Amino acid sequence: MDLEKLLTDRLAPAFATVAGVPVDPVVRRSPRADFQSDAALALARRLGRPPRDVAAEVLEYADLADVCSVAEVSGPGFLNLTVADAVLAGLVSALATDPRLGVPVAAEPETVVIDYSAPNVAKEMHVGHLRSTVIGDAAARLLEWLGHRVLRANHLGDWGTPFGMLIEHLADLGEAEAAHELSMGDLDSFYKAARAKFDADEAFAERSRRRVVALQGGDPVTLRLWRLLVEQSEQYFLTVYGRLDVTLTERDFHGESSYNDLLAPVVEDLGRLGLLRESDGAACVFPPGSVGRDGEPLPLIVRKSDGGYGYAATDLAAIRQRTDALGATRLLYVVGLPQRRHFEMVYAVAAQAGWLAPPARAEHVGFGSILGSDGRMLRSRAGGSVKLVGLLEEAIARATALTRDRNPELGEAEAAEVGRAVGIGAIKYADLSNDRHRDYVLDWERMLSLDGNTAPYLQYAYSRIRSIFRRAAVAARPNATVTLAEPAERALAFELVGFGRVVGEVAEDLEFHHLAGYLYRLAAAFSAFYERCPVLRAEGPVRDSRLVLCDLTARVLRQGLHLLGIRTPERM
Ligand code: ARG
Repeated sequence: MDLEKLLTDRLAPAFATVAGVPVDPVVRRSPRADFQSDAALALARRLGRPPRDVAAEVLEYADLADVCSVAEVSGPGFLNLTVADAVLAGLVSALATDPRLGVPVAAEPETVVIDYSAPNVAKEMHVGHLRSTVIGDAAARLLEWLGHRVLRANHLGDWGTPFGMLIEHLADLGEAEAAHELSMGDLDSFYKAARAKFDADEAFAERSRRRVVALQGGDPVTLRLWRLLVEQSEQYFLTVYGRLDVTLTERDFHGESSYNDLLAPVVEDLGRLGLLRESDGAACVFPPGSVGRDGEPLPLIVRKSDGGYGYAATDLAAIRQRTDALGATRLLYVVGLPQRRHFEMVYAVAAQAGWLAPPARAEHVGFGSILGSDGRMLRSRAGGSVKLVGLLEEAIARATALTRDRNPELGEAEAAEVGRAVGIGAIKYADLSNDRHRDYVLDWERMLSLDGNTAPYLQYAYSRIRSIFRRAAVAARPNATVTLAEPAERALAFELVGFGRVVGEVAEDLEFHHLAGYLYRLAAAFSAFYERCPVLRAEGPVRDSRLVLCDLTARVLRQGLHLLGIRTPERM
């Protein structure tokens, strides 16, 4: 039970008595007391009475005696509430013995499909795929921990006309050489070489076009070469996921091609439902509400004029499969904001067709771009897109060097391990601690800094707490009695008991910067506590109580960072 809810439950009946109708007390943390409720102000306006009188009357009816040490009217008519130390201490004690740290399992677990990462075969993953991978994986970890059945869907771009030229290029190179290039992760140069030949050499272009037809027709040799391309790319993506500490596995690849057999029925059924219109030879659906700048209705093209199916048809087939065969009720699409319109239209058409009906719903978990220090889209020095592995290597190298400087006592192997955890953690946290709807600037200095809202700061806070227990050579005793006398102890306790609420909110809105911000506040509250309240130098019950606060802080930090996909080394 979190405190906002406890106080709300106590105040609501009193407000209802005074108002004659239900009123939300709007309880929130307050700079003046522990909590405040401002609802008396609006209510007084409605009743045409002085706000302080209304607030005082609410207090008379409210049953707060066992929860608050002080409950008083302040200013123009606020209610200021101070939580009794014993109540707060009781909540902390309950948390200390709760393996779930105050985060209940979902009351109604559901099947959630999370569509994320989704790079394209024979193409380098770019930083947009990095964002999708990091955010999607955090969503998967969090929803799984809440008890939902999470299905990871890596909607690999593994089909379409470019495969004609890619397969021809592969055939020209020879299978062994092509496999070698691809397994090195040199996907971009492979793709570019194919593209260059396609543009310069008409005979090659013609062969490529015939190859597309052979691929679609299921020609066995062509299919074998295609599979080689897909498998090499998949192996490469898996090494990137391993580097990134991402939970995606081989089983989660559900490439676009896996929907091929479902595309014709999708279009047929749309026709049968009377939803198709022809536009320039293409079969289209015009979902209600989709209009362009000029006010003209916008079409979703489900079959191109050449008879081929494209991206939209595949996404429609995938929705149908996810709700129908997989039984999912929540469909998440972690894809950049430029594709927002596409998804809005796909969801609208799926709803029209009856493939996406309540309780099933789809959400586009969109995100902005990563910018370079010049404030523009991140580019490599040569002007091309930045190679994801290069970025990860750089993060690990920088973090490892910093780790060696800061703590020369760590052995070689441990420094490398810590450098990896810090480097990867820094990349992920820089992403997740920013409002995902916005662009953010990739700033090495800032994201690797030990001060501020960064992964290294939180990881350091964790390792520092662990070192307290190492130095004292004591284990945590979660059953010890908690007493809260110092303001810094109370402030830390309030943060600790807020974990459940923030996790519950993020499960809804998938705004991970709220979880990041929470962990940062928690670590800062711990710092303030540790500065003012001696732990190992304290004695008896005070020492035991403070050790409970230390241990609980470490456990919440570790669990919170784990949900973000970030490791917590024991020493740094
Ligand atoms: N492969 C696509 C791209 O790189 C992303 C796919 C996103 N998922 C989906 N169901 N459309 O842009």
